[in-house]
Amino acid sequence: MKIELSHKLSSFKPFLFEELYRRERAERARGKDIISLAVGDPDIPTDRRIVADAIKEIKNGRNHRYPNTKGNENLRKEISAWHKRRFGLDFHHNDEVSILIGSKEGIAHLPFVVMNEGDYCLIPDPTYPTYRTGVVLCGGHIHDVPLEEKNGFLPDLGRIPQKVVNKTKLFFLNYPNNPTGAGATLDFFKDLVKWARRNGVVIAQDAAYCDIYFGEPAPSIMQVAGARDVAVEFYSSSKTYCMAGWRIGWVVGNSKLVCALNQLKENIDSGPFNAIQNAVAYGLKHHEEIVPPIRARFKARAERFCSALHHSGWRFPDPKGSCFVWARPPVKCSSLDAVLFMLEKAAILTAPGSGFGKCGEGYVRFSLTEPDAKLAEAARRIKALDWAALKK
Ligand SMILES: Cc1ncc(COP(=O)(O)O)c(C=O)c1O
Repeated sequence: MKIELSHKLSSFKPFLFEELYRRERAERARGKDIISLAVGDPDIPTDRRIVADAIKEIKNGRNHRYPNTKGNENLRKEISAWHKRRFGLDFHHNDEVSILIGSKEGIAHLPFVVMNEGDYCLIPDPTYPTYRTGVVLCGGHIHDVPLEEKNGFLPDLGRIPQKVVNKTKLFFLNYPNNPTGAGATLDFFKDLVKWARRNGVVIAQDAAYCDIYFGEPAPSIMQVAGARDVAVEFYSSSKTYCMAGWRIGWVVGNSKLVCALNQLKENIDSGPFNAIQNAVAYGLKHHEEIVPPIRARFKARAERFCSALHHSGWRFPDPKGSCFVWARPPVKCSSLDAVLFMLEKAAILTAPGSGFGKCGEGYVRFSLTEPDAKLAEAARRIKALDWAALKK
């Protein structure tokens, strides 16, 4: 039988990055010592106290049964308590908090609960690619909203055409931002909530990097009065606790949306392993001891790496948070040319800005999720590059 794959699948072409990984493998096979700064996958191991708690929880037979799709009560209560401590916000653990199998899973499913075929979703450009996934699967349209350096990589709400806004159901945003490292202020979130309420648009703010900030603590959109009427916010244990492999995220906010997402997910998954949920609850309970050293480490890496890039002629505003540096090379060239040049001449793999959207063209994203010594070596190799050779 000749198996025919669906039309929808063709919307998910292999990533631009796949080609880069292929070239990286080829360079490695030739014996090159490649430093990969392309993906944001924290190198720092999960705190040993969380690991010890997880081992204890795995041994508990009660955790071996099916979990609850919306997450276990212990974790949901710990999440509520953390939002209270961090932002002064009360979320009821029953209907304003839901656990996800990593925030990526919830992000991909959210469009199904608010969008019908033909509806529009606003997605930043450049963007974290998963915002597109659910929109494409549910037959929605995407309108790209430019994030420009001159606007601090914040969207210019006034420039989104009103006829698009009128057909828009959902707007994904993400601050501290991947890939640009930009931050949003509470004033920006206030304007955004006002705009969303006026236009009847649901806001999905992705706060995956909310605790990797380098100055003032990153705000939550939910701190804005009235945000609960229009918004949900996604959180992740992946970067905050360096638990990317454990796959726990959560969503808080508008209870109708949180419950609708649960209703959908009850038909798809059965939630993450209870032992791991309890280990994340342990992390949240001890957040104030575990997270500041992680943040300090990312901040120190960002400062050192940015300083080296500035000295090497790269042009960029310093990141306000996240694990990324988003910068334009010393000479004018395409993102891909810059990435291939660095791979060939310095054995460093980075992510081309153009892979994150049209507005990313000309930029390169460096991920700071490799050990300090490797980042120092990468900085040294970058300093030694002769960019004039790229033009030849
Ligand atoms: C902006 C952003 N949101 C969400 C995620 C997904 O995180 P999780 O590991 O919780 O699925 C990532 C992961 O890189 C990300 O960069």
